[in-house]
Amino acid sequence: MVALTDQERAMLDGSDGAAVQKAIELLVRYADALGADRFVETDNVAGVPGSSTPWIKQYYAADGGDYRAVFSRYDLDSDEVVDVPRVNAFSCHLQGGMDPELWAEQGFSAEAHANFASDEAQVAGHGIQVLKTCTPYLAGNVPVMGEHCAWMESSAVVYCNSVVGARTNCEGRESTSAAMLAKRIPDWGFHRDEFRRGQHRVQVDVPVDDIFEWGMLGYYVGIAVQDAIPVLDGHIGPPNLIRHKHFGAAAASSGGVEMYHMVGITPEARSSEQAFGGRPRGETFVYDSTARAETYAALNALGRSMVVDFVMLGCPHYSIEQIAQAARLIEGRRVSANSALWIFTSRAVKATADASGYTAILSRAGARLMTDTCSSISQAVPAGTRVVAVDSAKQVHYLPAIMGLEGWYGTTAQCIDAACTGQWRGALV
Ligand code: F3S
Repeated sequence: MVALTDQERAMLDGSDGAAVQKAIELLVRYADALGADRFVETDNVAGVPGSSTPWIKQYYAADGGDYRAVFSRYDLDSDEVVDVPRVNAFSCHLQGGMDPELWAEQGFSAEAHANFASDEAQVAGHGIQVLKTCTPYLAGNVPVMGEHCAWMESSAVVYCNSVVGARTNCEGRESTSAAMLAKRIPDWGFHRDEFRRGQHRVQVDVPVDDIFEWGMLGYYVGIAVQDAIPVLDGHIGPPNLIRHKHFGAAAASSGGVEMYHMVGITPEARSSEQAFGGRPRGETFVYDSTARAETYAALNALGRSMVVDFVMLGCPHYSIEQIAQAARLIEGRRVSANSALWIFTSRAVKATADASGYTAILSRAGARLMTDTCSSISQAVPAGTRVVAVDSAKQVHYLPAIMGLEGWYGTTAQCIDAACTGQWRGALV
């Protein structure tokens, strides 16, 4: 049984209102199911509070079919509908279902957009930051080392734990919505030192030095270690934010990696000894030229036709540096009449791209810079799409399977070339 502080007991007794009471009740059930013996306080929560499709609202029609009903019954798993106050923790909304302006181009109806806009007004009205991105760390929510967070979204979770050294499990909608109100999350898993130690070793024997290579390495590592914690060492090229972003997203997709160590690179791995923390070392996996070629083949296993009708970039959501690179690569060219190029980012980063002139360059070339969502989350691709090309190992893992497409994985330059020629000319060099 989870032990409660006086303040937590008071919440459970209803001192902070019915919604907080329902939230802590849910978290107590969650903690007991995990076997956690206490809570940690959190003031950094990232989730998708209360947002829902019209279908879900219809499901709760008898309860009013509104944000309040969905938040009570679905998010808080409450047996009654309660008034939902402004949240207590610093909280942000992760990715959503459509672009706030280009929704019609994405194939959404005016009714779906009205529902989206109504939910967003409720989110903002409840004191939740409308970041609308899978990369909150690029849009105004950057935790610090050791900070206890409650985040959803596997690519953000693995970044939070591994690169920043903050602490979160891969939470769900219910636990994050409850944590926004109760400011608590079970002290379990990645919140505790003993869960953060490396389990398997990955020796990198080939140079890995751009997002294409870091993405492939991540995909290989996820397959190798599944949901364990890998400790990587060897020929890993200079790290930067976008390389980590693509590595972690890929490892979380092909496996269930929620934390990794890179010796001499990530903050809890100054040495191999620190990364393993005295824990017995498991298997050793070697990423060499054979493993690299096999990973590339696996990522391109669904590619057949060289005719590409859609290029999707921005998984995880592009940083401003990546948008600048895309603009550089396409300036003076045009997206083929037989293809389309959609690039996804957060609203915060798009505002910078607008101010820096990149959005205009992309637009002149016939590309679209979109926010909030991505093709996998929104299940939105240009009409008639059969073959997609991406520069994200995570996206090629999901999108072709979700939408029944052929898929190619390549460098950003190869993808932009495909958008401009309508032809896939990518290859492993
Ligand atoms: Fe983000 Fe969509 Fe990829 S929400 S991590 S761009 S699958």
